[in-house]
Amino acid sequence: MDKQEQDRLKKEAANKAAMMVKSGSTLGVGTGSTVAFFIDALGERKDKEGFSLAHIVTTSNRSKKQLESLGFKVEELSAIDQADLTVDGADRVDDELNGIKGGGGALTLEKNVAINSKKIIWIVDESKLVHRLGGFPLPVEVLPISCEQNFKRFEQEGLKPQWRMDENGDRYVTHYGNYIIDLAADPVPAPHGLADFLDHTVGVVEHGLFLDMCDKVIIAHSDGTIEEKER
Ligand code: 5RP
Repeated sequence: MDKQEQDRLKKEAANKAAMMVKSGSTLGVGTGSTVAFFIDALGERKDKEGFSLAHIVTTSNRSKKQLESLGFKVEELSAIDQADLTVDGADRVDDELNGIKGGGGALTLEKNVAINSKKIIWIVDESKLVHRLGGFPLPVEVLPISCEQNFKRFEQEGLKPQWRMDENGDRYVTHYGNYIIDLAADPVPAPHGLADFLDHTVGVVEHGLFLDMCDKVIIAHSDGTIEEKER
């Protein structure tokens, strides 16, 4: 699939999700190129229908800038109670609507927004679909103070850790001053067990396994059909 075709599919899924947002609601807005199309579609609704939102929170500076350029006011997560709905992209989605997220490095904020949302919709093109989670490195955000120990432990567990690097060849530093270790074990072995292990590993801030969270996935297929899958 070429990029133009993939963008066309992403836009279709994004437009569909934008029509599901209720005026007057509190919205969480995720990160990524598919979400960028979703934000454009929200802007169109605002201009054409006088559509407005009570509160908006987002998971990236890029989405924040785009929302603000369209006249939406963006607040911090700590300023709201819960989002009625969060719309985000995903790096991989399995048959049970579990996902891998965090390719962009914003997994900690993404998970915090997700967990504080009444409903979650992911918008993806069909290239993100897998039967079993895998085909994409699983990001784990770790505190610098014990990151070397975390890395070694992941190696011992056969999780094939790799430091995420930035464009200068240095360790990538997250918004919160932490590092990211990408686990290359593929497919992800026993996702629920692994999530439990990571949730209980001291020094792990957050990981990119988003399990049992997503309510609906809107999938744009290359044959032009849009599929909605619900949990
Ligand atoms: C970042 C994400 C993004 O939502 C995911 O990478 C999707 O990006 P795109 O829509 O550009 O394919 O999970 O952590």
